[in-house]
Amino acid sequence: MRRKIAAGNWKMNTQIQNGLDLAQAVLEGERPNHVHIIFGVPATHLAHVQAVVRNANQVFCAAQNCHQAESGAYTGEIAASMIAAIGVQYVILGHSERRDYFGENDQLIAKKVKTALANGLHPIYCCGEKLPVREAGTHIALVSEQIEEALFSLSEDDFRKVIIAYEPVWAIGTGVTASPEQAQEMHYTIRQMITGAYGQSVANDTSILYGGSVKGANAAELFAQPDVDGGLVGGAALNASEFLTIINAL
Ligand code: PGA
Repeated sequence: MRRKIAAGNWKMNTQIQNGLDLAQAVLEGERPNHVHIIFGVPATHLAHVQAVVRNANQVFCAAQNCHQAESGAYTGEIAASMIAAIGVQYVILGHSERRDYFGENDQLIAKKVKTALANGLHPIYCCGEKLPVREAGTHIALVSEQIEEALFSLSEDDFRKVIIAYEPVWAIGTGVTASPEQAQEMHYTIRQMITGAYGQSVANDTSILYGGSVKGANAAELFAQPDVDGGLVGGAALNASEFLTIINAL
């Protein structure tokens, strides 16, 4: 069975001490045992937050990016092996901010996904359309293409290690959330695609998260959808009690 996951994407926010305080406050909060919690933290925080979550039940740390090469002359970049070496198990890849501001495309992200997997990391693969695409009614075709390009050349074993996050770009950081029906439609479509590529059992076991202005107030209705297995949460994950409300909605 697939996991219920509440993943926080802290982006380029928090200094180390308030980041640690935030992680600690979530760890100490009331939360259900069946929910996996993942903190996607800035690179400078990884080892520190990893040390905090290491012995916690069902709580993990994620990097927000990695390079596609194994190592080498890539000033400023971080290798998947370096992330794995400090015990971190997840990496967010293909976030729309990486696509928009750093020119990442599906081909590049596909390479990053492969390198992450080769180093034992679980990719949290982000996909999602921008507003004009949604308005043109071609959102399903676009997201299908993103998923196919980046993920469907993986072996079944590797694909099983991937978490998918559907994040409509028009909903990220805007306060506008996809309706539960819009989220469900896309998540259902993604699961159908996975069934087509890898079969029913893999599709049933794949966690598909929704991201884009998830908050305490809207989490329950999104998570009530049969194909929404959790959230990738930006702004609301920076506040422990808000994030705990989201966690408890799963
Ligand atoms: P948001 O960000 O929750 O602040 O909209 C989500 C994300 O970018 O992962």
